[in-house]
Amino acid sequence: MSDILAELERRREAARAGGGERRVQAQHAKGKLTARERVELLLDEGSFEEFDMFVTHRTTDFGMADSKPAGDGVITGWGTVNGRMVYVFSQDFTVFGGSLSETHAQKICKIMDMAMQNGAPIIGINDSGGARIQEGVASLAGYAEVFQRNVLASGVVPQISLIMGPCAGGAVYSPAMTDFIFMVQDSSYMFVTGPDVVKTVTNEVVTAEELGGASTHTRKSSVADAAFKDDVETLMETRRLIDFLPASNLEKPPVRPFFDDPDRIEESLDTLIPQNPNQPYDMKELIHKIADEGDFYEIQEDFAGNILTGFIRLEGSTVGVVANQPMVLAGVLDIASSRKAARFVRFCDAFEIPILTLVDVPGFLPGTAQEYDGVIKHGAKLLFAYAEATVPKVTLITRKAYGGAYVVMASKHLRGDFNYAWPTAQVAVMGAKGAAEILHRSELDDAEKIAARTEEYETNFANPFRAAERGFVDEVIMPQSSRKRICRAFASLRGKKLNNPWKKHDNIPL
Ligand code: HXC
Repeated sequence: MSDILAELERRREAARAGGGERRVQAQHAKGKLTARERVELLLDEGSFEEFDMFVTHRTTDFGMADSKPAGDGVITGWGTVNGRMVYVFSQDFTVFGGSLSETHAQKICKIMDMAMQNGAPIIGINDSGGARIQEGVASLAGYAEVFQRNVLASGVVPQISLIMGPCAGGAVYSPAMTDFIFMVQDSSYMFVTGPDVVKTVTNEVVTAEELGGASTHTRKSSVADAAFKDDVETLMETRRLIDFLPASNLEKPPVRPFFDDPDRIEESLDTLIPQNPNQPYDMKELIHKIADEGDFYEIQEDFAGNILTGFIRLEGSTVGVVANQPMVLAGVLDIASSRKAARFVRFCDAFEIPILTLVDVPGFLPGTAQEYDGVIKHGAKLLFAYAEATVPKVTLITRKAYGGAYVVMASKHLRGDFNYAWPTAQVAVMGAKGAAEILHRSELDDAEKIAARTEEYETNFANPFRAAERGFVDEVIMPQSSRKRICRAFASLRGKKLNNPWKKHDNIPL
C-alpha cells in the first residue's frame, strides 16, 4: 500500500514540476509567477481542488511521443474566493509555452461545463504561445470548443480573463468574449497578428508592447478593463472583483457586512456643484460619498474618462454605477463613452445587478469625426442597453441633463424606477445660451439682448421643476441626503419583477 501511495505522490510531484526547474526560473526571471503559484494566490488558502492533473497530449508527430508532461500545460479545477466557489484554469508557460493542444482544450472545456452546470464564475489565466504547433487543426478545434462555451456561458456565469503573458492570434478571442479582461503591465500582450506580420503587411514598425501591451488595451482599444503592476496585484484585484459579483444569473449578488450608516448625511454635497455651470467638479467625489465605506471598484478607469463605470455597495449589496464625469470633456457622451457604458449596463442587467446612474451631461459630442465613425449607431447602444434593462434603476441628475443624452441616461422614459434630481439640475433640450441663440437668431448681433434672452431661458428651463411637474423627475432632493434616498430607493426595489417580451434575442446596434 505504501508503494501505491508513494507512486501517487511521485506522479503528483512530477505534474507539479511543470516544465522543470530551468523553465520555472525563466518564468520567474521575467517577473511572472508560475501557473500554480497564480492559482494558489487567487484562491483561498488550501481551497484548490485540481482536475485532470495526469492528462497528457496524444500527439505522436514531431517526436512528441517522447515528451508527455502530466497536465499538458494547463492547470484546472475549482476553489473558493472569500468562501465563494469559482472555477479556474491557468495556462502553464513552462510546458510547451502554455500552448493549447486538443487535450489542453478538453481540460478547459471540462471546467467550463462544470461552472455552467453548477453556477459559478470562470476565471481563465492566459499565458500561452497559442495553438500547439505540433497538433495543427486539432488545436484549432480545441480553441473552437472553448469559444463555443464562452458564448454559451455569456450572461449565465461571470467570466473573467487574466492576461499574464502572451495571448496572440485567434487565441485572443476567448478572452475577448468574456466579461472582464485584466492585464499585467509590461509582461502581457494581446494581438491578432504580431509585430513581424504587421511589418510585412503594413510596413509599420511596432513593438509587442506598443501593439498589444496593457497600456494599449486599457487606454486605446478598451479591449482590457484594467491593468495592474504585477501578477500579485492582478490576482488580488480579481478577488476583489469576484466579491462584487453573483455566482450566476440565477443568483443575487452577494450581500456583505457593512459598517456605514445608510442614513449618513453628507453636507459637503450641498456645495459640490460650482456656481458657474461650465466649471467642472469631480463626480467620483459623489460616488465615494454615496458608496458604503467610500469603496468604488472602477471598470475601464483609463478609457473614455468622460463616463465612469464600476461597482459600489449600498447596505452591503452590489450596485453598478454609471456616471458622467464633468472633469473630462465636460462629461459629454461620445462613441467611446457610449460603448463603454452600454457594455457595463448590459453586464449588470444580465447578472441582476441594480444600476445607479448619476447624470451631468451636456449632450452628444458634435463633429465630423464622431458622425463618420458612427456616433448614431454607438450612441444607440447605450440607449438600447438602458431601455432593455429590467434591473432596479435609480437615477440622480446633479446638473445638466440636456437633449437626447437626458433621455439616454436612464431617464424615467426608459423605465427608470426612481428618478431624482438635485435643485441644481437643468433638464432641458440644450444649454440656455445655445437655446437663446437659436430661438432669437435675429437678435444675434445684440449681445445685451441675447444675454437677457439667455437669462430668461435659464429662469424658465434650467431647473429640475419643469421635469418634476410632469413626473419625469420623481422628486427634487437635497444633495446632502443623496446616500439615504438612494439606499432607500434600492431597498424598496429588492422585489422588483419586470420582464421584456419573449424573443430569441434582441438586435442591439453593433
Ligand atoms: C508549441 C510552443 C508554442 C506553440 C511556444 N512554444 N509556443 N510549442 N506550440 N505555439 C514552446 C517553445 O518551443 C519553447 O519550448 C517554449 O514554448 C517557450 O517558448 P520560447 O519561444 O522559448 O519563449 P519566448 O522567447 O518567451 O517566446 C514566447 C512566444 C514564442 C512569443 C510565445 O514562443 C512564439 O512566438 N511562439 C509561437 C507563437 C505562435 O505563432 N503561435 C501560433 C499562433 S496561431 P522549449 O522546449 O524550448 O522550452 C494561433 C491560432 C489560434 O494561436 C487560433 C484559434 C482559432
